[in-house]
Formats: sequence, structure tokens, C-alpha cells
Amino acid sequence: MMNKHHTPVLLNETLQYLITNKSGIYFDATLGFGGHSQGILDSLNNNASLISTDVDTDAFKFSKEKFNQEKRIKIYNYNFSQIDLISKIESISSYDGIFADLGVSSFQLDNIESGFSYRTEAKLDLRMDKTKGLTAADIVNSFSEEELADIIYKYGEEKNSRKIARSICEARKIKKINTTTYLAKIIEDITSPNYRMKTLSRVFQAFRIYVNDELENLKKFLKKSVDLLNNGGRIVILSYHSLEDRIVKEDFKFETIDCICPKDFPVCKCDKEKRLNILTKKPVVPSEDEIKNNNRARSAKLRAAERI
Ligand SMILES: C[S@@+](CC[C@H](N)C(=O)[O-])C[C@H]1O[C@@H](n2cnc3c(N)ncnc32)[C@H](O)[C@@H]1O
Repeated sequence: MMNKHHTPVLLNETLQYLITNKSGIYFDATLGFGGHSQGILDSLNNNASLISTDVDTDAFKFSKEKFNQEKRIKIYNYNFSQIDLISKIESISSYDGIFADLGVSSFQLDNIESGFSYRTEAKLDLRMDKTKGLTAADIVNSFSEEELADIIYKYGEEKNSRKIARSICEARKIKKINTTTYLAKIIEDITSPNYRMKTLSRVFQAFRIYVNDELENLKKFLKKSVDLLNNGGRIVILSYHSLEDRIVKEDFKFETIDCICPKDFPVCKCDKEKRLNILTKKPVVPSEDEIKNNNRARSAKLRAAERI
């Protein structure tokens, strides 16, 4: 039985930063099972609207059903990097608020068929959109040892990347690596018990980020979102690991700069515009109470900025 309960992380803080106009137009880039979308709708008037999208078909279908009586929401099964396309379809030129709660949902982690967890045996896939691109199995069975080590190091920040890549290549000579648990066993066999969970999380995270092109999609989405915010409009992003958070932090910072000319230029020659004011000097993190009640919140960081 699918457990589709997903407690929205930092919900009150998200709403405080995001909502400036109760009759406005909002975008939820990571609909999931609708926790934040529901919270946003509850804070808005009857004439407001919300566009929500999720690249995962199960999340899309579930939320389409959940909100089928709600006239203020439009739901898409698109990648959030296509926010410009979705906005064109909806004839929306600007938003009052754009929100994203990055990563995977508890449902994706708990649902055996999704294959996002190394704890339960499933096909080694890790794609959020099961209709496009290479699966994690395609990668671990065909990429060179060096390519695998680079992925594990770059997207998992795992120091033992070379050793793990070597073991993957040895193991696949004996039997194709087609399941989550087989990949997990290969990693476990060469990792000391104290580091097993962390290493497994990092390696699975690395392949997940790679197959979903998560960091590039995030960069595209952030750039397009700032283009699409109206003056005073807000962008609020929840991230769960340092690679995502660094991209959000650096993107926001870049948008606060009004000149990128080399320091020795006597006059500014660039067309760079300052487009954002950062609202969260330091990222907002969940209270101990929230973490106690929702383990997924433990690594969350919220950053918010305002379009000027
Ligand atoms: C942490 S969950 C969101 C949970 C949601 N806020 C809620 O309260 O139910 C992240 C969701 O974003 C989706 N997602 C991740 N990357 C995406 C992308 N590039 N485009 C669209 N959806 C994406 C995942 O499929 C997942 O359902």
C-alpha cells in the first residue's frame, strides 16, 4: 500500500517569505503530494492562482486527483526547468512568488517500485521521469571506471569514489548490476560498518543527481524564475544537500550584483543588472521540534529573495 503522506517541511516559514499578495499568481515547482501547494492555496484568496508541476508521473496523478475540486490550481507533469514553457501555455508573464522544495519526496523514498532507496530491492533506475534518459543501471553497467568515480565524487562528495568505482567494475564482470540491493551490497562490502549508511546515501545521491541532471535543471530553473518574477515578487527554495544549497546561494548572490566588469575597467561596460535582494542572510533551518516530528526536515535549508 502506498503511503502518500508527506509532511511539508518549513511550511510556515515558506508561506511567510513567499506570500506578499493574497490575490496573486504563484508557482510551485515541486508539487509532490501537494503539501506545500495546499498550504499556499490555504493562504490565498479565491481569485488567486497557483501553477504546480512535478516531473514524477505518480506525484502528478495523485495531486491531480487530490486537487480535482480546486479551481485555483493548474497542475503539470513537466520538469521545473520548463517554467518558461508552462508560463507561456498559461499566458502568464510574471509571478508574485515561485517556490521549490528540491529532491525526492518521502513517497518516492518509501515506495519500493520507485527504486530510490537502497534499503529495499528494486530495479536500479533512480529516474524521476521514468520516460526519459538513462537509468542508474545503464550507467553503472556501461560507464568507464573513471567516469563512475567522477560521478560519485562530484555528485556524492564521496572520498572513496575511486575504490567504489573499481568494485562496481569488478562486480559487473560477474553479474550485471540491475537492482538497488546489489549495488548497495557492492558498496557495503568495501565500506567499514560505521560509514556504511553515509556512503550508501552519497553514492545513491550521486547517481540520482546524474540521471536526473538535477543541478543543471536547478540552474536553468533559477535563472528563468528570476526572469519571471514581478517587482516585489519572491523566490523561496528549500534544499537538502550542500550541492543544491551552494547553487541557490551563488545564484542569488550573482543576481544581487550590478556589475561584472573586470576590476581594472575604469567604467562599467557590462549590462549586468541587479535583480534580487536576499531576504535570508543565513539560511532558515527547521526547529528541533520540527526535526523531531519529521526526520526529512533535518537537513533542510530555506533561502528566499525578492525581485527588484
Ligand atoms: C521534496 S518533494 C516535494 C514535496 C512537496 N513539497 C509536498 O509537500 O508534497 C520533491 C518533488 O519534486 C519533484 N521534482 C524534483 N526535481 C524536479 C524537477 N526538476 N522538475 C519537477 N519536479 C521535480 C520530485 O519528483 C518530488 O515529487
